[in-house]
Amino acid sequence: MRLTILGGGGFRVPLVYGALLKDRAEGRVTRVVLHDLDAGRLSAVTRVLAEQAAGVPDAPEVSATTDLDEALRGTDFVFSAIRVGGLEGRANDERVALAEGVLGQETVGAGGIAYGLRTVPVAVDIARRVARLAPDAWVINFTNPAGLVTEAMSRHLGERVIGICDSPVGLGRRIARVLGANPQEAWIDYVGLNHLGWVRGLRVAGRDELPRLLADPGLLGSFEEGKLFGVDWLQSLGAIPNEYLHYYYFNREAVRAYQQAEKTRGAFLHDQQARFYAAMRNPGASAWKVWDDTRAEREATYMAENRESAGAGERDEDDLSGGYEKVALALMRAIARNERTTLILNVRNRHTLSVLDTDAVIEVPCVVDAGGAHPVAVDPLPGHATGLVCAVKAVEREVLAAAESGSRATAVKAFALHPLVDSVGVARRLVEGYTEVHPGLAYLR
Ligand code: G6P
Ligand code: MN
Repeated sequence: MRLTILGGGGFRVPLVYGALLKDRAEGRVTRVVLHDLDAGRLSAVTRVLAEQAAGVPDAPEVSATTDLDEALRGTDFVFSAIRVGGLEGRANDERVALAEGVLGQETVGAGGIAYGLRTVPVAVDIARRVARLAPDAWVINFTNPAGLVTEAMSRHLGERVIGICDSPVGLGRRIARVLGANPQEAWIDYVGLNHLGWVRGLRVAGRDELPRLLADPGLLGSFEEGKLFGVDWLQSLGAIPNEYLHYYYFNREAVRAYQQAEKTRGAFLHDQQARFYAAMRNPGASAWKVWDDTRAEREATYMAENRESAGAGERDEDDLSGGYEKVALALMRAIARNERTTLILNVRNRHTLSVLDTDAVIEVPCVVDAGGAHPVAVDPLPGHATGLVCAVKAVEREVLAAAESGSRATAVKAFALHPLVDSVGVARRLVEGYTEVHPGLAYLR
């Protein structure tokens, strides 16, 4: 079986390859094709993969290309993990927004809109090519903003594109852990949009254990989300929000923390990654060691500003192992081998949330088998959460419309309607600022 990875020169590719190396079962991936626009990044990552594969019998064969059509033609699975504009783009997304006093995070608020506006046209082009060159392939979308980008691609690939995120899985795992439950045996009642969802229950053997957690301040304050949001707020909500809701519930604090930070997350990663790719040009370096040290530093500093502003301290050791690759592999195996499983994924709503139309991509537990991902019916969201989900989905639709029409006025509307952008004037200036710095937004007229 052949797997094509778009953004194949990306830093997280060794995580995926490491997971592939552990898969010994019949029907596993035997060929990996890496595609990237940058040949230098491809050779850096290929070096790390070669060290990973050393000594592993029948390791999946790796090839690399800068030709997109060649990478896609006849492939079985596509992992799409691109970053349009690179980390420089991400840093600019943050900078322009913070100068206007609003959030520039890569997936939430103004930054997410800017990133979406330049990513959607590229993702749509990829989707069209997949439909033409690999009509039987399944596409697993890693690219952020994942919900929006998956929806854009689904207009060309239907239900054969599925978006993934490790946040809900990590959240479910943490809640199960503090409750002493086995995450494999627990049913996590979670729904929303990507980076905008809530855990409303965790059922083990027919019993909802979440009320026990919500009633116990000691337990509630003992894990990442408890520290980030505070015990009182979680008890008021009666649910555990995805960590990205910190940007909504504590917006001023988050904006201030980002404004005061020495470097924004994007700027920090830009410099860190530049050092990594430069080190990979030194033939004497141990590629694996440099990569793994870089990864550890990246994971330890994830959402550092939010944790600092909340006084949440360091991340738990158990939370440092990532998880994207695990979700992606579990999903690919379930489809390729008809191994029925349940995963929280970004898929078309169908009739899951009645406040959204059937084609809106949402994040929800799905049963996955050879037929794809089937969303499971869930209880409706409470009023305030429904409000946020509808508002943000409306923004996403404006982004999709702007990307399709190239209309600058529609782009302004997308920013202006976002609950974290509090003025039409700010929205206009954001479009000015972003179109000045991003060549990928030149299509807005
Ligand atoms: C989490 C999110 C991803 C995001 C990543 C960012 O895993 O779910 O969507 O890409 O964090 O981490 P970074 O190290 O790039 O800030
Ligand atoms: Mn994510």
